[in-house]
Amino acid sequence: MKNSRRKFLTSVSMLAATTALPLEAFAFNATKKLSVVLVGTGIRGITFWGKRLIDQYSDIIEFVGLSDINPSRLAYAKTYIGASCPTFSDFEEMVKTTRPDLVIVTTKDSTHHQFIIKGLEMGCDVLTEKPLTTDETKCQSILEAERKSKKNLIVGFNYRWSPYATKIKELLMNKTIGDLVSVDFNWYLNTYHGASYFRRWHGDMNSSGSLWVHKATHHFDLLNWWINSEPEEVFAYGDLEFYGKNGPFRGDNCRSCQHSSKCDFHWDINQDKFMKALYVDHEHEDGYIRDNCLFREDIDIYDKMSAQVKYADNTTLNYSLTTYSPFEGWRVAFNGTKGRIEASQDIPYFKESSISEAEKHQKEMTQTDQEDLSFESIIVHPLWQPHKTLAVPMEKSGHGGGDKRLQDKIFRTSEIDDPYGRTAGIRDGAMSILIGIAARRSIENKKTIQISELTDLKPRKQRS
Ligand SMILES: NC(=O)c1ccc[n+]([C@@H]2O[C@H](COP(=O)([O-])OP(=O)(O)OC[C@H]3O[C@@H](n4cnc5c(N)ncnc54)[C@H](O)[C@@H]3O)[C@@H](O)[C@H]2O)c1
Repeated sequence: MKNSRRKFLTSVSMLAATTALPLEAFAFNATKKLSVVLVGTGIRGITFWGKRLIDQYSDIIEFVGLSDINPSRLAYAKTYIGASCPTFSDFEEMVKTTRPDLVIVTTKDSTHHQFIIKGLEMGCDVLTEKPLTTDETKCQSILEAERKSKKNLIVGFNYRWSPYATKIKELLMNKTIGDLVSVDFNWYLNTYHGASYFRRWHGDMNSSGSLWVHKATHHFDLLNWWINSEPEEVFAYGDLEFYGKNGPFRGDNCRSCQHSSKCDFHWDINQDKFMKALYVDHEHEDGYIRDNCLFREDIDIYDKMSAQVKYADNTTLNYSLTTYSPFEGWRVAFNGTKGRIEASQDIPYFKESSISEAEKHQKEMTQTDQEDLSFESIIVHPLWQPHKTLAVPMEKSGHGGGDKRLQDKIFRTSEIDDPYGRTAGIRDGAMSILIGIAARRSIENKKTIQISELTDLKPRKQRS
């Protein structure tokens, strides 16, 4: 057990890129498993960071506490995860009582900072789900808490770990197209996945920071990592033109809606046993409705977003995010001094797809180790030469195979050097949300926003 625990703690230190703690700073215990508490027992918490950790890493990890503001969901979560630990409604009491090595934060986005800061102050390493947080003030507080703490903070960026994203990184690192000059990136959320954000707390700017932060943090993190520089200035447009107040009708929630027969988005949550057991059965406690009407008047986030970003090394980025596309997919193109790379996933016109859009969303959110392997191509087109098409083996579940690789890196293979630098620390977490926060400000103020205006982080020409 000693080695596993040492490996994990080494990993936390390496993953938290900005805090180069000497390894001997950690105290090791010869017999104990790594003790973990989790706060936020919603779908991401109980599936990916709960049940999957127990299923895959029980030999080295032990849950010692679970916490949530909804006591009834908390009780369900404990059974679903298969943990035998106590549950707590009070996070601080949980940490005081259980003295964990690691706090995992999977609450709603706007509350992450409370548990990150408290966890660090109380002497724990902290692993938070993305996004790091939702605004620049909370971001600055997290930066300061982390600097004061002797402990480490990891942001769980899973997209970097998919084999497809890694292949793009490898091509760019090898200067396949010379020096990078500009990037075009478009992400298309379909009418299942895109709509799902407008059904619940993500539709409230104060809870999610909008999809500029909640969703685009994934994209901006990938881009920052691929481009290997830090964002310097941002100009953006965005609007709400489809969901929310724009809908033709609205009801209290989907399951009971009088307009269900004419609404293309109708979804009966009670038909989905798992969603009912996780959300509907506990809504009497806190009023958290998982199948809210996506045309409700108080939605205040954007449903179309586009931005231009200039990086500190002068690379320029054109970015857009669509939330009601007929298909789910994305494409990216890199222009370099020696050629161009084009990559895309799930564009239906480029291939024969055997799964429906509804299934696609289901698969992405699933954690399975059983895979149907497929291939997606990346096009490399050098100047003055014919293009080459590279076939990259693909997985569909768990965010393109990124989920399980991220956990393996943290808990099992931390000592193996990663040539692609896929581990993300607090600076990466901050830089990816600061683009989205700057985009929001740019829309509100109709002007270009400097990233250096937002926190005390000054953009670096090259990511460290
Ligand atoms: N990396 C990924 O691909 C990925 C995928 C899905 C979700 N996430 C992230 O995981 C987090 C959770 O998302 P989810 O879809 O599971 O949401 P969810 O709404 O299903 O779960 C959130 C849980 O947090 C609890 N909670 C809210 N405020 C709290 C507080 N102050 N104290 C304690 N508990 C509180 C809620 O009761 C709920 O049980 C989010 O930050 C989200 O961005 C990441």
